[in-house]
Amino acid sequence: MRVQFKLMENDVIICHCYDVYKSEIVKAIKTKELTSIQEVIDVTDAGAGCGSCHNTIQEILDEVNGKM
Ligand code: FES
Repeated sequence: MRVQFKLMENDVIICHCYDVYKSEIVKAIKTKELTSIQEVIDVTDAGAGCGSCHNTIQEILDEVNGKM
């Protein structure tokens, strides 16, 4: 619960090409058990544009999947 609160508190737009919020990406990773940037792109469109948000998406993947 504490982690969810922290993630919601930090809700920001991660992908400016597609206006995708961190909360949307976190929710997609959790509900669909995503493990790669490509899967996040396929499900949320985040990362499908210029690619400059890919590092941040990877950090969120690591954070949600407990690799940090
Ligand atoms: S900011 Fe995410 S693809 Fe451009």
